[in-house]
Amino acid sequence: MSIFMGKRIVLGVTGGVAAYKAAELARLLGKAGANVHCVLTEAASRFVTPASFQALTGNPAWSDLWDVRMPNGMAHIDLTRGAAALVVAPASANSIAKYVHGMADDLLSTLVLARDCPLVVCPAMNRQMWENSATQRNVAQLRQDGALILGPAAGEQACGEVGMGRMLEPEQIVAGLEAFFTPKLLAGKRVLMTAGPTYEALDPVRGITNLSSGKMGYALARACANAGAEVTLVSGPVSLATPAGVRRIDVKSALEMRDAVLRHVAQAGIFIAVAAVADYRPANVSAHKLKKSGATGLTIAMEQNPDILSEVAALSSAPFCVGFAAESQNLDEYATTKRAKKGIPLIVGNLVQDGMGGDANRVVLYDDSGRHELPAGSKDAVAADIVVYLANLLGA
Ligand code: PMT
Repeated sequence: MSIFMGKRIVLGVTGGVAAYKAAELARLLGKAGANVHCVLTEAASRFVTPASFQALTGNPAWSDLWDVRMPNGMAHIDLTRGAAALVVAPASANSIAKYVHGMADDLLSTLVLARDCPLVVCPAMNRQMWENSATQRNVAQLRQDGALILGPAAGEQACGEVGMGRMLEPEQIVAGLEAFFTPKLLAGKRVLMTAGPTYEALDPVRGITNLSSGKMGYALARACANAGAEVTLVSGPVSLATPAGVRRIDVKSALEMRDAVLRHVAQAGIFIAVAAVADYRPANVSAHKLKKSGATGLTIAMEQNPDILSEVAALSSAPFCVGFAAESQNLDEYATTKRAKKGIPLIVGNLVQDGMGGDANRVVLYDDSGRHELPAGSKDAVAADIVVYLANLLGA
């Protein structure tokens, strides 16, 4: 289930060109299950209209401190009561300065002062305004006062200048909030993971690989980091962004993956092998591009790759090992056999037709206590459920 489900989130929008992105943020939060209530400053209403936010969230949008729609006339108090967070995005330099000094001269700044929920601030401003020592002092003070600051990012700005000050993209803000809300079940744990396919070269331009996209492994790395773990991700070749807070080591072949894992395993308390590692590699890698020989076929001699998971599980000081098994049939039988053969406490089974390449998955967990089916869902949702199961197993 989404961490946002049923959460009341107050979204404050201040005056800045990034205000148009706040509409998408409101939509994404609502789509994730949050009950979103928007508050616009007078300046924000010059960029975007309350009507857009009302239409996107299904809730009235607010901007006037003297609005009497709240039955007791106390919108500046009531709006944040029961809220999981007050998120200000975009937060202008002026609004940040006001929050630092406890000024309350409009509905949003009054809500910030009167709130009884966490404050999340997503700055957006011109790069010089961001770099100005006054802003830097204010942001440091706001952070010290307990606010979570998400962003800003660097890049091209609406004014044409390039630098730090762009508001994070709505998806990044949602990811930041998700991390913030996730219970820290793996706090203090160091997790080493593998993800993605391996690529076994035949010659400088060709090789043997598989259809793993890396999405399941990356979702699990994100879920572990969201749960407070320190995550090192050894990744085969994929085209995915590194999850926030995750240390990523890129490799290509199974041998490179093994080397990277063995270099980092001593520091890990948990090892999760999600990668689809090639069991075999070409015995001879040609230094030059192979040429058509005129013969009708080509025979490639293969040799076996080391089994990284089995090797880690056999270490005298082995971390808690979690394997994955992707099968096209007989999941229970094959996954159980793999768990026993590799000598690991937990294996996550999935059918390739359910989980490989796509954004969703359906998994079954096998351990000493038997077979445990998790609800099917997005890979992020499945990963979050795996983390909860793992944390319970570890007695967290
Ligand atoms: O990447 P996606 O598109 O999101 O797809 C996800 C996935 C289907 C690839 C993933 O969920 C999954 O099931 N990964 C394991 C793939 C697999 O079946 O591996 P295996 O049966 O070859 O190996 C079993 C376990 O041993 C795995 O944990 C694997 O990482 C590990 N292994 C295997 C061979 C090897 N040489 N070294 C290993 O460490």
